Amino acid sequence: MEDSWIMVVMAILFLSFILILYMYTWRSTSNSTKCRKSEASLPLGTLGWPLVGETMEFISCAYTDQPETFMEKRRRMYGKVFKSHIFGSPTIVSTDEEVSRNILQGDSNTFVPSYPKSLTILMGESSILLINGYLQRRIHGLIGSFLKSPNLKAQITRDMQKFVQQSMGSWDEDRLIYIQDETKKIGFQVLVKALISLDPGDEMEFLRKQFQEFIAGLMSLPINIPGTRLYRSLQAKKKMVKLMGKIIEAKKNGGSSKVPKDVAEVLLNENMKDDIISDNMIDLMIPGEDSVPVLITLAIKYLSDCPAALQQLLEENMKLKALKDQTGEEMIWSDYLSLPFTQTVITETLRLGNIINGVMRKAMKDVQLKGGYVIPKGWCVFTYFRSVHLDENLYDSPHQFNPWRWPDRDTSGCSFTPFGGGQRLCPGLDLARLEVSIFLHHFVTQFKWVAEDDSIVNFPTVRMKNKMPIWVKRRSSHDAFGLKSKLNFEGSSKNDTERDDQSARQYEKEIV
Ligand code: HEM
Repeated sequence: MEDSWIMVVMAILFLSFILILYMYTWRSTSNSTKCRKSEASLPLGTLGWPLVGETMEFISCAYTDQPETFMEKRRRMYGKVFKSHIFGSPTIVSTDEEVSRNILQGDSNTFVPSYPKSLTILMGESSILLINGYLQRRIHGLIGSFLKSPNLKAQITRDMQKFVQQSMGSWDEDRLIYIQDETKKIGFQVLVKALISLDPGDEMEFLRKQFQEFIAGLMSLPINIPGTRLYRSLQAKKKMVKLMGKIIEAKKNGGSSKVPKDVAEVLLNENMKDDIISDNMIDLMIPGEDSVPVLITLAIKYLSDCPAALQQLLEENMKLKALKDQTGEEMIWSDYLSLPFTQTVITETLRLGNIINGVMRKAMKDVQLKGGYVIPKGWCVFTYFRSVHLDENLYDSPHQFNPWRWPDRDTSGCSFTPFGGGQRLCPGLDLARLEVSIFLHHFVTQFKWVAEDDSIVNFPTVRMKNKMPIWVKRRSSHDAFGLKSKLNFEGSSKNDTERDDQSARQYEKEIV
């Protein structure tokens, strides 16, 4: 009996503590913003629990196959723009395409990037993702114009073709090929070559290993003591910075070249400091090892599930290949980008895949939004692209992969922003499309395949749970395009017998 009373008293004390903490957190967030506007001008929503806010619910939704349900629930209750408290900050979430566009267009007096602590520690203070104002615009401009140059596109095309052929040349028909691993290796090699002119070899492998260790800590606990994830990632970054230093030194000693052959030389020619160059070279490897390979992998996943789209893409690519074989000309970068259906497949993959779910900013002053709302100074704002890309008022059957929806639509509007917008619009967007187009061309024209069951994971980054395993079969010379043929896996009977009923059904599913 006495024990029960103690429990009740403890429960009351605990609840009172939570209540006081909640009121304190709520008041302190309001006070710290020094926002003179009334609470009514904040969007609707709730700040959730003390300290953790709504982070737990956000993360538990993020791990499901429909991470947008966290947003959808609040969108229905409070409208397209609402307040929340996630990742330790009071946050305004925008799932409204026009509000998000206005936020992205804000300059650094209004908004600055806001990332989790572990990410800012690892990126370093010179990273383009974190710097603001003149330096950000300058580096963005320099990188952007180099990445858009026809010379670089021609080099990327040659490198990508070479690395793709090397990789595909080693694919056996009697073993599983993991598309995500293959594309990560190729994407990394291509981008590192464009960044610092390093060719595949021991140094590249060393860099890749350290980079994988580095990237694993981007969303970790911000505790830097031996044994922690962040500590291991920082050690890996140190090794990469050392290698970068060696490469930059060699470039300096080699004398400056008028026509820079890589991004590091572009920045060196502008007398950028060594730490700015090396921090940014390392950060720029992220789309090489992650965003672009994941985009290729998702495109193959969606095509595997949509035979009609695959058939049309195959016909388009086979036609170009036949033409090039006939004339004896080599494929150049503009050939790859000239395939309209292939481009709509990439666009639709970007919309449905949402490789970057959204971006976060911090308000530098009170900012007035459409509808009379205000983002108080010091609050974070999360422009959540995924909800816009999957909005049924903007896209019919939004969860369906439908590349045919694109020819009649404009990709430059604010309802399609996979590459962000405003001053920080991704400078690598053309390059990403080019790399995907090259991979898809060589993949579909050389192989038929059957995909094993796999699913998309959305948090902390988008990827395939099992790395997208597939069985491949090389197309024979008489395997004319448009001709459907059943895959014949005689010779890989070990795998046949081992498959359970479900994968056997999947196995039987005919892929063009
Ligand atoms: C599927 C591929 C890619 C996707 C989905 C993607 C997406 C994005 C997004 C959404 C942003 C805006 C971030 C923000 O506003 O805070 C961004 C920025 C950026 N991206 Fe990409 N990206 C991709 C590929 C690439 C490639 C291939 C490169 C370079 C080789 C690249 C380089 C950059 C850089 C340097 C920025 C920072 C721009 C700045 O803050 O000024 N990206 N990207």
